[in-house]
Amino acid sequence: MAQDSLRRLAGELKRFIANQEEDEFILTAAPQRAAAVLPSNPAPQAEPLPKMPEGETLTVEFTRKPKSIIPPPEVAVQPSAEAAQPADTQETLPGSLMTTAEKTAALAELAETIKSCTRCPLGSSRLNAVPGEGNVDADLMFVGEGPGFDEDRQGRPFVGRAGQLLDKMIAAMGLKREQVFIANIAKCHPMTDPLHPEKHGNDRAPNAAEIACCRKYIEKQISIICPKYVVALGGVSAKALISDAKSLGALRGKFYDLRLDSVQRPRPVKILATFHPAALLRNPGWKKDAWIDLQMVMAELGLKGAAK
Ligand code: URA
Repeated sequence: MAQDSLRRLAGELKRFIANQEEDEFILTAAPQRAAAVLPSNPAPQAEPLPKMPEGETLTVEFTRKPKSIIPPPEVAVQPSAEAAQPADTQETLPGSLMTTAEKTAALAELAETIKSCTRCPLGSSRLNAVPGEGNVDADLMFVGEGPGFDEDRQGRPFVGRAGQLLDKMIAAMGLKREQVFIANIAKCHPMTDPLHPEKHGNDRAPNAAEIACCRKYIEKQISIICPKYVVALGGVSAKALISDAKSLGALRGKFYDLRLDSVQRPRPVKILATFHPAALLRNPGWKKDAWIDLQMVMAELGLKGAAK
């Protein structure tokens, strides 16, 4: 029994260390546009994301201790109360049939579930969960990869530097932040060093297991809001929502039907992938391609300034 626990602990530690080495974002551009904007050696593509078996819960608790004492993580692999009642078993009406008040109540209830979620280790290191915010009746939803330092402190999505650029992108489309809904795939801050959440530069992309734990939440949010369009910001979001077998570069430039059971009626939600604002801050040359993507959405929504 003790040996089993030790073996499990060693496995979790190995995985944790491996995760720290993951790139922040996976970024490639569509081949036909790439020549103009991409560095000659684009980032390597990540492995396809494995799916978490239905009903299975990954519970690894990291106890936060003062300063530099780094204790071994406490590992508890056991079904939690939430595993017995995963978010997807709670019946929800398709958002298209819900009133504004019903959507607001359903999203608020879901936000409470997210705030107390400890299905993955991020639940133990976060300062605040970041469920998402915006107009529950929005036609347009933006989905990023996961909260960073500022979002973790404020419990709100896209409020740091990347968020300021996202606000500008939304404004360039002729919209206000309050008119759209903004959320993330991962609801808690993925940190390279979860024992020191106060550190800056402690961000990483959510890993496959964390995404698998969290994906029910974004799927349910999309189902409730039932927007006409979702813009996936960056490779993590695009791969999680459209296809984990393709790169962002391969996914950009066209709309996909978002295949969620509860949003097929009366119409599927359309999803388009573009660059993450943080990537645009690092590579301003990619902004013109991101603008081409946003104009595709503007044209569909009949917003002024869209390319004809
Ligand atoms: N990056 C994201 O993907 N989401 C946020 O909320 C902030 C930064």
